[in-house]
Amino acid sequence: MKKILVTGGAGYIGSHTVVALQEAGFQPVIVDDFSNSRESVLEGLRAILGLDVPVHRVDCNDKAAFRGVFEAEGEVAGVIHFAAFKAVGESVQKPLAYFQNNVGSLLVLLELMQEFGVKNLVFSSSCTVYGVPDALPVTEETPTKPASSPYGRTKQMCEDILRDLSQAPGNDIKSILLRYFNPIGAHPSGKIGELPLGVPNNLVPFVTQTAAGWREELTVYGTDYDTPDGSCVRDYIYVGDLARAHVVAVQRQLDGKAADVETFNVGTGQGNTVLEVVKTFEKVTGQPLRYRTGPRRAGDVPAIYADATRAAEVLGFRTEVGLEEALATAWRWQQNLKNE
Ligand code: NAD
Ligand code: WQD
Repeated sequence: MKKILVTGGAGYIGSHTVVALQEAGFQPVIVDDFSNSRESVLEGLRAILGLDVPVHRVDCNDKAAFRGVFEAEGEVAGVIHFAAFKAVGESVQKPLAYFQNNVGSLLVLLELMQEFGVKNLVFSSSCTVYGVPDALPVTEETPTKPASSPYGRTKQMCEDILRDLSQAPGNDIKSILLRYFNPIGAHPSGKIGELPLGVPNNLVPFVTQTAAGWREELTVYGTDYDTPDGSCVRDYIYVGDLARAHVVAVQRQLDGKAADVETFNVGTGQGNTVLEVVKTFEKVTGQPLRYRTGPRRAGDVPAIYADATRAAEVLGFRTEVGLEEALATAWRWQQNLKNE
């Protein structure tokens, strides 16, 4: 079985990708410092997979400790680098922590990959690199815009680093940059899912926590945008579909088909408004959701969704799970959570 190191593998997208890798016949190995995760994720993985996924509790910025992972694991076929901080608002408060963790960890990882001759990297990028786009849907050729937050800038910098590395003489690391749109939902078993620590910033966890009575009501941020119902438009992709995109990307690299650096949007190709998400959630649960409309949230992009053609044509990747089913899994997961 080919071994794939999954940094941030105990996180939201990482844990679903660990399941997808294992089910596709790979041997995932988690490297996570649990700065935004809990041990219970490992129990969820065990319940789903019926085995213990190897875990290294290591900070990817700690080069000596991370080197120990490469030494211990021997032959590694590829790395998927999820490990990063991801809270946009927090990145404004603590920019240095974000640059250190997100950019710093990538540099450490790349140096270790060079040292150990590991040649394949799949990197978590984000549609945040497009800023407020001039035209929709966005393709991979849509110009990126100066990011509106330090978090967004870390993703742009990491992309730049990988593109520059691909041009360097003698470089033999191949990178696939996956630009995720808005991942939502949970494993159908309800045993792993999104684990926002504290008050969620993202829409779907706030919706499910409101329905569960953890939050008083949802505020819909802005209903005066130039969109079909005035609320913002996003491309909500089911996390299990997103996880599968990583497996396909890894396989492409191992098949020797990947160029030095490749970039893919990973979205559904469809936009939904915030109010559509609320209505769909109400339909799924059969209950009204407490919400009110409020002012716009600073820094929000009015509308963005992916042109998913390149991923379909080059990777053969298409999403399979729609909004309704994705929200149903998010709700199932929420019902299994304890309010700690
Ligand atoms: P997450 O916080 O659930 O997962 C990240 C994991 O990385 C956590 O388990 C955390 O403990 C770990 N981690 C953080 N810093 C680390 C370090 N230095 N060393 C080791 N482990 C570390 O986040 P997620 O939603 O699963 O996001 C995964 C990746 O995808 C991130 O790079 C994020 O920026 C990117 N991304 C996320 C979204 C989204 O909406 N969730 C969208 C686009 C891109
Ligand atoms: C979605 C929509 C909100 C909460 C952020 C990051 C981005 C990416 C994904 C990583 C927006 C509205 C939300 C609420 C609301 N992450 N909303 N009430 O803003 O698309 O992107 O996460 O790369 O970089 O910026 O996602 O889930 O926060 O918001 O009305 O309580 O829901 O205004 O229109 P967003 P989100």
